[in-house]
Amino acid sequence: MARKRYEDLRSYRWYGADDLRSFGHRSRTLQMGYDRADWTGKPVIAVVNTWSEINPCHTHFKERAEEVKRGIWQAGGFPVELPAISLSEPFQKPTTMMYRNLLALEVEELLRSYPADGAVLMGGCDKTTPALLMGAASMNLPAIFVPAGPMLRGNWRGKSLGSGSDTWKYWAELKVGNITRKDWEEIEDGIARTPGTCMTMGTAATMMSAVEALGMSLPASSAIPAADSNHARMASQSGRRIVEMVWEDQKPSDVMTEKAFENAITTVMAIGGSTNAAIHLLAMAGRLGVPIDLQRFDTLSRRTPWLADVRPSGRFLMEDFYYAGGLPALMGELKDLLHLDAVTVSGKTLGEDIERADVYNEEVIRRRANPLNQEGGLVVLKGNLAPDGAVIKQTACDPKLLKHRGPAVVFADYNDMAARIDDPDLPVTPDSVIVLKHAGPQGGPGMPEWGMLPIPKKILQQGVRDMVRISDARMSGTSYGTCVLHVAPESWVGGPLALVEDGDIIELDVAGRRLHLDVSDAELDARRAAWVPPKRRFERGFGAIYADHITQADKGCDFDVLMGTAPTPEPEIH
Ligand code: FES
Ligand code: MG
Repeated sequence: MARKRYEDLRSYRWYGADDLRSFGHRSRTLQMGYDRADWTGKPVIAVVNTWSEINPCHTHFKERAEEVKRGIWQAGGFPVELPAISLSEPFQKPTTMMYRNLLALEVEELLRSYPADGAVLMGGCDKTTPALLMGAASMNLPAIFVPAGPMLRGNWRGKSLGSGSDTWKYWAELKVGNITRKDWEEIEDGIARTPGTCMTMGTAATMMSAVEALGMSLPASSAIPAADSNHARMASQSGRRIVEMVWEDQKPSDVMTEKAFENAITTVMAIGGSTNAAIHLLAMAGRLGVPIDLQRFDTLSRRTPWLADVRPSGRFLMEDFYYAGGLPALMGELKDLLHLDAVTVSGKTLGEDIERADVYNEEVIRRRANPLNQEGGLVVLKGNLAPDGAVIKQTACDPKLLKHRGPAVVFADYNDMAARIDDPDLPVTPDSVIVLKHAGPQGGPGMPEWGMLPIPKKILQQGVRDMVRISDARMSGTSYGTCVLHVAPESWVGGPLALVEDGDIIELDVAGRRLHLDVSDAELDARRAAWVPPKRRFERGFGAIYADHITQADKGCDFDVLMGTAPTPEPEIH
């Protein structure tokens, strides 16, 4: 790659020009106390920071941004911190998924409208990672991702606590009286005790791992605990590296290739990652015009062993995964399944990045010869109930439900389900298939994580802990059960899920990858003709924009107008 000259930089049009506007740019930069020496001859690096006082996963980002900037200064860049909306999983309603594309749009337009030559993307809490990468991919300026990193293990009386999973576990214990209110309070004190993301293999750890495998963050960065001083040094290294990337003109489209996406998907399978990865990686690929579809996940899943014994599917936590060697160690076991010639933001190939990696704890990261499962967790289903696909996490299912035929018990929406699920008169048996409608991208709205539909109380009382459940919702990366998710098209837009009625027979065959509604085509046509579309929910605001542009799960739930690689004009300088 030919190195760029100072005059070639985007920011030169702001700082280097000799006109009225550039007088303003320079005088206003001087106003902030900078000197000409601070910017002259240097690339401007946008440090896109999703810090916020209501995002506990990113509390260290104020400090980390300083460490990133230290690296940028050292390497001869001019850092400019740009705050962007923080999608805080624990607080934002109805769901952060509603706002992923808003953050992506914000990132793209921040980079476009300001004099950025490159970007450091600071994120980690679930949706922030794909959003930052989507925006940067569309703008296609050199960019590097700084993962927030997981928090340390939770601790309660010497027992390790995992985000999400242990909350539900002890909530159930509290309800049946096995622990006291005081115990519950102590668990509350101990489950989240440092900055950083959820430290189970939920969506955050899954997506940070996926992005490292994609090549968009430094090697070995994604599992460093947020509280570890290695994390601060990784931030500075990323700052130094982005300056070089600008001179080398290494763009996201050079890194996020089809091969890189295959590497990311393979890695997600091997870590037993969150089902949400299917949606986010499709959306990211869609920004670059990389032809990855949902089916590719199934193909790669079939040949990828599950190696990371991390909760919720396994036993350990991200801190253990880090000490066991982290992602390079895991990828080192998969060399024959990865495209080792893919280039990463390190400036080297993935093969070079993981050359010296080794596994230091073979229980946490299994050797290739001793996998937890021969296949990956995620499976893609198709059939007349999900013509455009659905997903299920097969490793989280009761094996005897993997092939099942049973009558539907249908809930029209979440409130209907909440009102009737525990009704003693609900006509439900352990063989029933629970169906929830209106939980998809439009229906939720925002495709909330409702997919682990509750087991009716009267079934629980029979000792049954799993049933076949079907919805157009997502589920948390920390959930489990025979839950068919992401049914596309969703019921709100008239997908076949909208036509299911109580008592209809539904067939699930995971090995055969099939989801079938055993109702005749003639009957379904009649129901379709009688189907009344739901009333539009939003008349104004972001909700209305969202409703007009959101795509279905099999397309990644991006906005249609944000997908693809059609050129967007650079802002003119006037
Ligand atoms: Fe932020 Fe889980 S709540 S990563
Ligand atoms: Mg989550």
